[in-house]
Amino acid sequence: MLELTSVSEVHGVVAKVLQECQNGLAGRAITVTFPGVADRGAALRAAVEAAGEHAAEVGASARRHRTGIDLTVPLAFVTVAVDADRLVIAGHHRSGEDGARQAVPLPTTTGTTGTTDQPAELDDQSAELWDTADWILGLEPRRVSPADGDRLRALLDGDSRLLATAAADALNAAGDPAVPRFVVEHRPDEVLGAAQPSDRRFSQSWESRVSVDEYALFEATHPAYAAQMIMLGRMVRAHSAGTPDRILDVGSGPGLPTVMLAELFPHSKIDAVEPSPAAYPYLCHNVAGWPIRPHHAGIEEFTGDGGYPLVVSVGTSHHLDTRVFLRSLARLVDRNGLVMVADELIGAFETEEERSSNIARHHMVYIDEALAHVQADRLPQVESARLRALRKASSLPPDALAGLLAEVRRDRPVHVGAAGGWQRVRFAVLELEALVAGIAYDVERKTYPANFVRMARAEGLELVDHRRVYGTVGTRPGDAGTHLFVLRPADPA
Ligand SMILES: C[S@@+](CC[C@H](N)C(=O)[O-])C[C@H]1O[C@@H](n2cnc3c(N)ncnc32)[C@H](O)[C@@H]1O
Repeated sequence: MLELTSVSEVHGVVAKVLQECQNGLAGRAITVTFPGVADRGAALRAAVEAAGEHAAEVGASARRHRTGIDLTVPLAFVTVAVDADRLVIAGHHRSGEDGARQAVPLPTTTGTTGTTDQPAELDDQSAELWDTADWILGLEPRRVSPADGDRLRALLDGDSRLLATAAADALNAAGDPAVPRFVVEHRPDEVLGAAQPSDRRFSQSWESRVSVDEYALFEATHPAYAAQMIMLGRMVRAHSAGTPDRILDVGSGPGLPTVMLAELFPHSKIDAVEPSPAAYPYLCHNVAGWPIRPHHAGIEEFTGDGGYPLVVSVGTSHHLDTRVFLRSLARLVDRNGLVMVADELIGAFETEEERSSNIARHHMVYIDEALAHVQADRLPQVESARLRALRKASSLPPDALAGLLAEVRRDRPVHVGAAGGWQRVRFAVLELEALVAGIAYDVERKTYPANFVRMARAEGLELVDHRRVYGTVGTRPGDAGTHLFVLRPADPA
């Protein structure tokens, strides 16, 4: 039973049930009351109206009935009904004609192998970047020679965000918890993201669950963060006729992958869309000097110039209603264009318990990987204590992780000049924030690959290619990890 203080909160509850069901949960019901409201009858009638408004906002079909309203989207059905002095919001997943949850076939490869032809218009500078990126992705962690190690360490100090980030990842996989120089040298006075007060639309905002200032600094140590961009670049070359002249980047956050995209395609003009008032100042700061135009907007309301030959999105599909996200991308891409979505997806689930366990296991792999080679005795004291606490995480049940998060979130200074890979410890805190938000299914709303593809198809985007860039749990292409989906409008001209 959820006690609400105002009718406007009903939108969020309907959205939650709808998204939880379309994203895979077999069934979900939340009962709502308005204990502090004098005229409960009026409040309940207004709540049904609010459910109807939500349906219109997200493009669900709505059918009124005697006690309330039914909402239907391709993968979920939700009924909102007045029952005495309560409102019952109940939904279920519609698996559709595909039947079983794993039924959608993925034309797919696991891992980061596979190259494509060089596009003709690469100039010398970007050809070298592509070659180096391909070399890093092709390295096997256990076979990194001392000479390879030296070359990777030199890249940590270079100007390329893409190569420095990829090099740090390769070194970490080989046993050295390295960090790119642009992260090491970040000074606290460059922290820009003073979050502004949230309006209603952003009450579910990213910064309500994740520290954006920390993300802007430490996300560069996320395993496979650069690898997903290199793979995305390869897919552009494999599936488009030429380099796209315009690219739309959806949910750019502080903009590191956006800059990587600009490095890969220096001749493309990029529109970067980001609604968060905390992340947007970082985006503007980080993209200065690049052919990237930041836009402070949510993708649902963004029109831009439309007809983009390439629409890209990294890490964002689970930060809003995934179907609305896909619908917006389908609206903005050219009929002959491509949509590339890189994001984390978890293993298939039907129950809340299954989902929580899958979320926890998935994030724990990133945490363990990021911390694997960090040594407590080489860290500033506050970080070595944090590291010890974080290393307990994988032995805790999912419901104990919120307590751990509260503990490791305290006292997070920037240690200018300190060595030891303390930035990886702070990345692990971010990952734990995502994990805990994911279990609450609040802000972080992950689905599983087969369901994502089904949702895309329902929004008019068909799957062209797929890579599981980094596997966290399981060994099959449709299991958990960092995925890249290549989609195109179902009926190109
Ligand atoms: C995990 S961050 C990813 C940021 C960046 N692409 C990266 O990979 O580092 C998810 C981003 O989605 C953004 N987001 C949330 N709702 C959105 C919406 N309606 N339209 C566009 N972006 C949205 C958040 O503000 C946040 O910046």
